[in-house]
Amino acid sequence: MKTTFDGIEMDLHDDGSGGLPAAEYDPLRTPYDVREQDFPGEKSFSDQLWFLLHYAVLAPSTHNTQPWRFAVLESEGIALYADYSRRMPVIDPGNRELVISLGAALFNLRVAAAHFAMPCEIAYNLSGDSERPVAVARIAPPLLGGRSCPAEEELVSLFPSIAGRHTNRNPFLLSRVPASVMLRLASCGADSQCELVFSTDGVVNERVGSLVAEAEQHQWADAGFRKDLAEWIRPGATPEADGIPGAAYSWTGPVAALGQYASRTLDQGLLRAAHDRNLCVDAPGLIAVTGEDSVLHWLEAGEVLERLLLTVVREGLQYSYFNMPVQVPQFRTQLKALLGCSAWPQLLLRVGYCLTPPAPTPRKPLQDVVLSQPMQ
Ligand SMILES: Cc1cc2nc3c(=O)[nH]c(=O)nc-3n(C[C@H](O)[C@H](O)[C@H](O)COP(=O)(O)O)c2cc1C
Repeated sequence: MKTTFDGIEMDLHDDGSGGLPAAEYDPLRTPYDVREQDFPGEKSFSDQLWFLLHYAVLAPSTHNTQPWRFAVLESEGIALYADYSRRMPVIDPGNRELVISLGAALFNLRVAAAHFAMPCEIAYNLSGDSERPVAVARIAPPLLGGRSCPAEEELVSLFPSIAGRHTNRNPFLLSRVPASVMLRLASCGADSQCELVFSTDGVVNERVGSLVAEAEQHQWADAGFRKDLAEWIRPGATPEADGIPGAAYSWTGPVAALGQYASRTLDQGLLRAAHDRNLCVDAPGLIAVTGEDSVLHWLEAGEVLERLLLTVVREGLQYSYFNMPVQVPQFRTQLKALLGCSAWPQLLLRVGYCLTPPAPTPRKPLQDVVLSQPMQ
């Protein structure tokens, strides 16, 4: 079925399950089972675009809100929309993290398109109009001769990491990350307006750890913050297809079952601050993604973030976030000075080695995030 939106012809699919009956859809398993050999090379271009979306939705998003909507544009590519109904009003009042999440999904589209030798260019729309796409990935059908340039090869090398990337909140080993690996991570910020700032200095990391702890206590004391957070926390075995399940925090049994209630009602600031301070101080490496505060820079920060995370996975490392001081203005200013950033910190991460594997988080079925009718 076809329709026209903004003068562009769109292909409307009814079934986004990738061929699986809805009853068998397991949000913790099915999305990660996408197999590259199922790429519909012999089918229509819109089927091929639809297939790429299986990789886009595996991107990370703030609290796994999956704040995206896609539209398959006949003969043109994929439009990406922000879903502001999934915003976090207290933790992310300016939608900064929401837009960064969209950038991460865009980067997965770039990688998947490169893997299937489909030329892809991103056109950003900075009008701020929520009814219009924030970006359109202009994608062409697969090239018969395959891919060519080194930049494309680099993207292709990240493809196997898309389904294996998960946030790992467990303690990391103290082992140092070799300088050669750190250099490869540093290259993820090249060709972008967003800079990556690294710290492997124990003294700086101690100070950052103290700031993380202070910011965390500040946030937990706020009932609005706890409500925002609890909204997206799920019990251990969750049938829901969004939010963070207890397993991703290594919670089991009653702790997982009560996680949402406890997060909403109890100020756990002291406990969490001590825990996260230690993780931060012990981290072999801290990395800040930095950039200016604008929709374009946030989209770019999301692309750099996902490039970095997929590279981390490719290099056999693990990562998690310490965004608390980035989320509160007074601590953000201090973090910027501590790390000597020339632009605003957008995200703060640790990287290192870990023997405990991370737990996957659920994803919504494609038909829930692909527009079946034009936004008006
Ligand atoms: C912009 C952004 C901000 C995030 N902030 C945090 C954070 O402060 N703390 C945290 O533990 N995880 C954070 N995450 C990770 C998400 O919770 C995670 O991506 C989501 O639950 C999906 O899980 P996955 O990354 O394992 O696929 C953030 C992710 C993004 C994209």
